[in-house]
Amino acid sequence: MRHPTSFLTSPLALGLFMLCAVPAQADEGRRTPPNPQYQQECGSCHVAFPARLLDEGAWRKTMGSLDKHFGTDASLDAATREAITKYLVANSARRERPTPQGQPTQRITETAWFKREHSEVGSAVWQRASIKMPSNCAACHTQAEQGSFGEHQIRIPK
Ligand code: HEC
Ligand code: HEC
Repeated sequence: MRHPTSFLTSPLALGLFMLCAVPAQADEGRRTPPNPQYQQECGSCHVAFPARLLDEGAWRKTMGSLDKHFGTDASLDAATREAITKYLVANSARRERPTPQGQPTQRITETAWFKREHSEVGSAVWQRASIKMPSNCAACHTQAEQGSFGEHQIRIPK
């Protein structure tokens, strides 16, 4: 029989502990709790970007201008918009994620954090036909659809 305390040291317990202990910290290797509604409404044109990678102000701005969403119309009905906004804000980055110029941004890919984390990716790589643009996370992060961006799940396509 397993010792009753063995659960506490199991990977599952550790994972649950991390989810509970660091809900809104914007850090690598961690996951934002998934939300089926968010996946469905915001994961059709691109991956459902992890809420933890932008701050509250950025998410509110994006959710308040969905009819003019990066050159496209991503409008939602009011109830859906409110529910998703609530989820994003609740799981957003605690710290601000300004651009290198110090301006707030709606783009994860324009934050200083993103640029630092991806400094080893050359500009020619971003433009490969298999990648197209930095916001195409799933081109390199093989588990991006599942909200997982760990360094062991990266494969840069040719
Ligand atoms: C109709 C397609 C479509 C839908 C639906 C959509 N988006 Fe987008 N989204 C885009 C396009 C196009 C871009 C710009 C891609 C580029 O140029 O990098 C974008 C970019 C973004 C970016 C910036 C990515 C970056 O870091 O560069 C965020 C954040 C974002 N979308 C959030 C959302 C959220 C939240 C929702 C759901 C409410 C949503 N999107 C739904 C098409 C869509
Ligand atoms: C051209 C391929 C490519 C694209 C596209 C890309 N990344 Fe990355 N990403 C990388 C590489 C390479 C690293 C650095 C891994 C390392 O330092 O070991 C990285 C690192 C990261 C990390 C830190 C992982 C860790 O555990 O250290 C996160 C989080 C991340 N990327 C998120 C994103 C998000 C979100 C997007 C889309 C908005 C994105 N990436 C687009 C290649 C890419």
